[in-house]
Amino acid sequence: MTYLESSRRKAEELRNKAGVRILALETSCDETAAAVIEDGRKILSNVVFSQIDLHEMYGGVVPEIASRAHMEACDRVVDQALREAGMALEETDALAVTKGPGLVGALLTGVNCMKGLAFAAGKPLIGVNHIEGHVSANFLTHPDLAPPFLCLVVSGGHSHLVEVVDYGEYRLLGQTVDDAAGEAFDKAARALGLPYPGGPRIDALAEEGNPEAFTLPRPKTEGRYDYSFSGLKTAFINTVHGIEQRGEALPKADLAASFRRAVCRELTEKARLLIREHPEAARGGMALAGGVSANRELRREAAAMCAEEGVKLYMPEIGLCTDNGAMIGSAAYYRLRRGEISGLEMNAEPALRLGM
Ligand code: KG4
Ligand code: ZN
Repeated sequence: MTYLESSRRKAEELRNKAGVRILALETSCDETAAAVIEDGRKILSNVVFSQIDLHEMYGGVVPEIASRAHMEACDRVVDQALREAGMALEETDALAVTKGPGLVGALLTGVNCMKGLAFAAGKPLIGVNHIEGHVSANFLTHPDLAPPFLCLVVSGGHSHLVEVVDYGEYRLLGQTVDDAAGEAFDKAARALGLPYPGGPRIDALAEEGNPEAFTLPRPKTEGRYDYSFSGLKTAFINTVHGIEQRGEALPKADLAASFRRAVCRELTEKARLLIREHPEAARGGMALAGGVSANRELRREAAAMCAEEGVKLYMPEIGLCTDNGAMIGSAAYYRLRRGEISGLEMNAEPALRLGM
C-alpha cells in the first residue's frame, strides 16, 4: 500500500473517532509555531517561536532570514509542542501544516518538515490555508461558535470580509484593493519612527492620544464590502512630514490615535454593512480574526457595533490573534472530517486564496 492509500484509510477511520489529536506547524511568515489540538477545539499545547528580534533591525521581515530561521527552529518547536502535550509523535492521529498564503521559502520549510514526519510516522497529512487558520482561532476560544457566521479577517497580508458557510467552506465577499490593515498600521508606525511590527506599538501609543486630533480621509472603494488603506496611509504620512517640515515635535500619541480611529472605523462600518445585508449569516454571529483583531480599539468598536446591530461578536483570545500553530490544527481537523488530506506532492502555495 502506498503512503497516500494508507493515509486515506486512516483518515476515513478518524472521521468517526473522538479525541482526534493533530500536530500542526505554521511557518508562513516570521513565527515558527507548533501545537497539538484535540478535536479542533482543545489546545493540548501551543508553542510560538517569534523571529521578531531577527527582523527588527531591517524594519520588516526579510524572507531569506525567515526561511533559515524556520529551518533551524522547526524540529525544536515541534518537539516542544509534543512534549508539552505529553505525547510522542506516534501517538498523534494526523499532522498538519500551513501550505499558503505566505512567503514561499518560509512555507516550503514547514511543508517539507511535515511531509518528512508524516511519511516517516505513516500519518495522514493536511495542508491548511493560513487565512482559514485565522478564522478557526475562534473555534478554540468559543466552544459555541459554529457556521454559518460572518468573519472579518485582518492581518499583515489580508483584509477580508467572508461568510463562513460551513466548516471549510467560505464565500469571500470583500477584500482590500491595496494595502492590508496590518500593513497600513506597520507603515504608519514606521513614519512615526516606531520599530517593526508597528501595529501593536501604534495601538499602545494610541491609548494615550486624542483620536479627533487629526482628520484623515474616508477611503472610497468600488466594491461594496471592499477596503482600501493606501490613501489613508499616504494622507497620514503626508501629515507627519508636514509637521516635521515645520520643525515641530510630532504629537505621536495623537497621530497614532487618529490613524487607529480611521482604520478601525472603516473596518467596522463595512462589517456593519455586511451584517445588515446578510441577516441570515449574521444570525450565527460576527467573528474577528488575524493579527489586527488584537487591536484594542477594533475590539471595542466591533463590540459596540455588534451590540447596536443585535449580533453576537466572537473574537479570538489575544494570544491566538497573531500567527500560531493552534489555529492551523483547528482548521486541519475540519478538513480531515471532510476527508480532505494531502499527498506528498503537496507544495507551498504562496498566493493561495480563500473560498469562492
Ligand atoms: O496575522 P498576523 O500575525 O500575520 C499575518 O498573517 O500577516 O498579523 C500580523 C499583523 C502585523 O501587521 C501587525 O502589525 C498586526 O498584525 N498587529 C496589530 C496588532 N497586533 C498585531 N495591528 C494593530 N493593532 C494590534 N494590536
Ligand atoms: Zn497570519
